[in-house]
Amino acid sequence: MNEFYIPYTPTAKQAMFHQSPAYEVLFGGSAGPGKTAAAVIDAFARCYFHKQTNAYVFRRTRPELLKSVLPEMFKWYPKGSYTFNDQKGIFTLANGSAIYLCTLQHEKDKHNYQGAQIDWLYMEELTHFTKSMYDYLKTRVRNAKDKNVQPCIRCTSNPGGLGHSWVKQYFIDAGPATSIIQVKTWVESRKRFEVTTKQYIPALVTENPYINDSYVLELERKPESLRRALLLGEWTAFEGQVFIEFTDDQAHYLDRRKTHVIEPFPIPDHWKRYRGFDWGFTTPFAVLWAAISPTDNKVYVYREYYGSHTGDNEGISMPSVQLAANIRKLEETERNKGIKILGFADPSIFDRRDGEGSVAEKMANEKIFFDKADNARLSGKDQFHSRFMFDEEGKPGMYFFNNCVNLIRTIKDLPYSMSNPEDVDTKAEDHAYDALRYILTSNPVPGTEPRKVPKSNYNPFKFY
Ligand SMILES: Nc1ncnc2c1ncn2[C@@H]1O[C@H](COP(=O)(O)OP(=O)(O)OP(=O)(O)O)[C@@H](O)[C@H]1O
Ligand SMILES: [Mg+2]
Repeated sequence: MNEFYIPYTPTAKQAMFHQSPAYEVLFGGSAGPGKTAAAVIDAFARCYFHKQTNAYVFRRTRPELLKSVLPEMFKWYPKGSYTFNDQKGIFTLANGSAIYLCTLQHEKDKHNYQGAQIDWLYMEELTHFTKSMYDYLKTRVRNAKDKNVQPCIRCTSNPGGLGHSWVKQYFIDAGPATSIIQVKTWVESRKRFEVTTKQYIPALVTENPYINDSYVLELERKPESLRRALLLGEWTAFEGQVFIEFTDDQAHYLDRRKTHVIEPFPIPDHWKRYRGFDWGFTTPFAVLWAAISPTDNKVYVYREYYGSHTGDNEGISMPSVQLAANIRKLEETERNKGIKILGFADPSIFDRRDGEGSVAEKMANEKIFFDKADNARLSGKDQFHSRFMFDEEGKPGMYFFNNCVNLIRTIKDLPYSMSNPEDVDTKAEDHAYDALRYILTSNPVPGTEPRKVPKSNYNPFKFY
C-alpha cells in the first residue's frame, strides 16, 4: 500500500484521545478544541492501519453531517488515499477498509444498521442522540476474531442537546475526568458479566492553538449559560436547559434559602395533598406527591415513585394494576391518618386501548383515582418558572425534598425542544416534569392563568 502523510500534529488532548486504551471514549467539553478533526483522523488511521475494517461515523442528521463532518474529512484525508462514493457516503481505502458516513434521525432508523459489522464506531455530537440509539449501535460493534483488531467506540460532544442528561450521567458523572472506568454488563446469551472500559477526555478551545482568536472571542460574548457550556465546557450549564434558575444548594438545605432542594421535614396533616402521575410502560412512569402550605401557598414535593431501573429514559414495563397497588402502599401513612390525596394525571390515561379498560379504569379498580389534568404545555411550564422564582428573602414558591432524586436529576437537565423552542423537549426524560406539571396546573400561582380542568368521571374521595 502507498504511504500517505497527514500534516497533523495533535494537541495533548487529541493525542490522549487517539491513544486511549478505553473501549468507549467521550472527547467532550467546549466548542472548538478539535474534536471533529481528531475523530475523523482517528477513523482514517484505524482503517488505514487495519485492513478490511469498517468505521461508521454518525451525526444525527444529514445536513449536519455534510456541514461539519464531511469538510473535515476532505480537509485531512490525503488525496489519492481513497475513493469517495458521494451517493452512498463511503470512503473506500486501497486495503479494503471503509469509512461510512451515517445518520440516525429517527428512533426507528436504528434498525437500518441491524446487519452492520462495525469495527470502529464514531458518534459526533453524542448528546444529539438518545441513549437507546447509542445502545443499539453499540450492539453492532463486533469483534470479528479473524480480523485481530480491538473494536472501539469514539464519541465527541459539547454539553447541551436532548441527550445531555444521559451522556453526562454515563460519561461525566461516572468518575474523575480522564480516568479509565470499568463498565460491567450482563450478557444474557453468555450468562456472564463482561467488563469493558470507558473514559471521558475533557477538552477546551484554549487548548487548540490552531483556532483563531475571533472564534474564542465569539464564545466569550455568548449569553452566560452558553458561554459556560461552550467556552468552559461545563456540563452543568448549557443553553438548551429550560430551568436554568433551578438551584440545588446543599449548604442551604436547612435554611431553605436560594435553593429549591431541601431537607425533608414532617408535613402537617392539615396541608392539602396532591398526587401527579405521568404514566409510562416502555418509558419511565413518574408519580409525585406534593403538599401545599395553607399559609403561604408554597408547594413541597415530598415523595416520588419513579419507574426506571437504569436512570435513563427506559421504563420498567409495570402493569397499571401493579402500579396502582404500589401507590396505595406508598400512601398508607396518609390513609391511616385520614389524609385525602387528590390525583391529577395526563388525560391520555383515560383513553381506551386495544378494547381493554383504560389505565385510569384499571387503577381506579385498585382505588387509585385521578382527575384529568390541564395539559396545556406552555402555561404549565410557566407555572414552574413562577414557582421557582426567589422572593426578596431568597425563598421560592416550590421546594423539592432531597429524596426526590429523579425529579431533581431530570428537572436540572431538561432541554428545550428543537422543533418548538419555547417548550420542553418531549423526547427528553420529562416524566417527573410532567407529573409535577399536572399538580401545578391544578394549583396555579395566584395571578397567573386560570385553570380549565376537564370534568372527570372519577370521584377521588369515593372510596376513602
Ligand atoms: N491538531 C490540529 N492541527 C491543525 N488544525 C486543527 C487541529 N485540530 C483541529 N484543527 C482545526 O481547528 C478547527 C476546529 O476543529 P474542530 O472542528 O475539529 O473542533 P470541534 O471541537 O469539533 O468544534 P465544534 O465544537 O464546533 O464541533 C478546524 O478547522 C480543525 O481543522
Ligand atoms: Mg465538531
